[in-house]
Amino acid sequence: MFGVCYYPEHWPEAMWADDARRMAELGLEVVRLAEFAWSRIEPERDRFEFDWLDRAIDVLAAEGLKVVLCTPTATPPKWLIDEHPDILPRDPESGLTRGFGSRRHYDFSSPVYLAESERISTIIAARYGQHPAVVGWQTDNELCCHDTTLSGSASARTGFQRWCRETYGTIDALNNAWGTVFWSMEYRRFEDIELPLYAVTECSPSHQLAFRRYASDAVVQFHQRQVDIIREHAPQRFVTHNFIPPVDTGVDNAALAAPLDFPSYDNYPLGRSDLRFKHWSPERFGDIMRTGHPDFSAYTFDQIRGLQRTGFWVMEQQPGPVNWADANPKPLPGMVRLWTWEAVAHGADVVSYFRWRQAPFAQEQMHAGLRRPDDSPSETWPEIEATIREILDLGVMNEAQRHADVAMITDAHGYWLSDIEKQHASLTFDDVQFDVYRALRALGINIDIVSPQADLSAYRLVVVPCLPVVDASFVEQAQRVLAQFVFLPRCGSKTDQFNLPGALPPGALQALLPIKVSSVETLRPDCSEALNIDDQVFASRLWRETLLIGDDVDIVARYGDNEAAAVRKDRFTYIATLSCRGFLEHLFRSSCDELGIETSQPSSALRLRQRGRYQFALNYGSTTAELPLNDDDTLLVGRQPLSPHDVAVWRKD
Ligand code: GAL
Repeated sequence: MFGVCYYPEHWPEAMWADDARRMAELGLEVVRLAEFAWSRIEPERDRFEFDWLDRAIDVLAAEGLKVVLCTPTATPPKWLIDEHPDILPRDPESGLTRGFGSRRHYDFSSPVYLAESERISTIIAARYGQHPAVVGWQTDNELCCHDTTLSGSASARTGFQRWCRETYGTIDALNNAWGTVFWSMEYRRFEDIELPLYAVTECSPSHQLAFRRYASDAVVQFHQRQVDIIREHAPQRFVTHNFIPPVDTGVDNAALAAPLDFPSYDNYPLGRSDLRFKHWSPERFGDIMRTGHPDFSAYTFDQIRGLQRTGFWVMEQQPGPVNWADANPKPLPGMVRLWTWEAVAHGADVVSYFRWRQAPFAQEQMHAGLRRPDDSPSETWPEIEATIREILDLGVMNEAQRHADVAMITDAHGYWLSDIEKQHASLTFDDVQFDVYRALRALGINIDIVSPQADLSAYRLVVVPCLPVVDASFVEQAQRVLAQFVFLPRCGSKTDQFNLPGALPPGALQALLPIKVSSVETLRPDCSEALNIDDQVFASRLWRETLLIGDDVDIVARYGDNEAAAVRKDRFTYIATLSCRGFLEHLFRSSCDELGIETSQPSSALRLRQRGRYQFALNYGSTTAELPLNDDDTLLVGRQPLSPHDVAVWRKD
């Protein structure tokens, strides 16, 4: 199905019927409404105005459109903030209170806001929960966006102190876990505990980790209440949430997604690429400026799908220039189509474009929609119209995903670690994880990105880019299943309290592979060193560990000075250094060959993905690309060779 985000409250009511008719004619079936409409629903406390929303839903329903309604909690109105200014969060960096006047100006730790969000969610869910046109619900909007997970407020401090008491039981246990003796940081009572913010220099990593965990729990609990309320009042309706890129939430995304029917994602390939790859040289960035990075959307789709291992929705799809990146270019002709196909190839059940019509006022007046502010169709309208027809005609959105052969493990502790204890200024968890993902995707294979708690029994290869805290159940599962495992540096490097394991890293992984990390060094980004494997020389970069090796452990790669850089015992490989993509590709290709996982070597800008019986090929590049077709493959979409920015689909039964 296809859909759109619509804001009837932004337009004269006289336009609604035409809008609804055109949506239906375009082939749209779902419309998301009201995620920011609190001030129109409840202009002052306990005075509700639902008539406009009732009529808007009726107008859409009259055209056969299905509605997804939202809890409007991302935008508490001015009267509520004036009544309870303590709803506002305190910036964790500057210490300043973040003010009213945009959105997400609330503190997850505020008991008042939790009660207010329950109140408004209950009222809206009770009113529309059984409405025949309302088929599902979106909670809030992009939880944690605009760096709102952490707050330095008084409520956060009180909440954190309570959480510490519940977690540690005694103050001695807390002091011991955090190593507070180190700089005379010992606490005598839970009520004395500070947030790990605004100190002169860094606070204990264990203290910081505890705060991240507390903040994550606060977001999860805030969200859980909304889901519970919707479920109570809206039986048989789905509940979803539109995620930002998972790494950007700063929380345990698997826990956040757990109560949903399926997760959704807001896909802005150009905006995200502009911000994410801003350090690239102009020559390099020029290639992706109007296409988006060829792996970034795929990387987020695989993470989102992996949250619950269900289908997912793209709740917002970029249709033209956005307004919020550093630079906001137009997509090349064909790219909105390609992005839509990419979402479908990765398992999206719905792609919904953001937004129906560009607003002529307020913050996003420079953000494209499907229609311009004067209601003329925008430049990408004809492309979107054709894309919807072509995808619906192929019927591929009903196709179920198959289990991938290869899993990549992701976990909140990885990004908490790289934020809290960097050890290298330009090292991020997301870069490490993305490099691994790109190296796997370059083999033309499907990848599932799942949590360490997921059932791994059906995978043949499991790659673990950064899992600092390894629990016993993960080790037990790794021993039980038949997959090969590849671990990268820092796996098993911390205890549950972010201290070094007594037996040295990789801690609990020593049960799989008898090695010890005897020392760690980090290197300047421009000073890479040799990394040798199978007579080929690649680069060891940024992070280098020295290993002590136990019995029956084979050395599979060596540093230039001949020390072990990657080792293997049976099904378990440990790579002791960060490296270049060529090295990872080489290693993963050998594993796939050994395991009989079919790989290919697509040209540099061609990307492959399979959904059920359909094989997709997407050409992000500006030159034609050769498709890896077998003699009996028949193209359903596209042609050989594939034109720039074009898509091909064929059956692979
Ligand atoms: C999303 C957000 C929308 C809108 C959009 C603009 O992040 O959910 O409300 O702001 O970005 O691109």
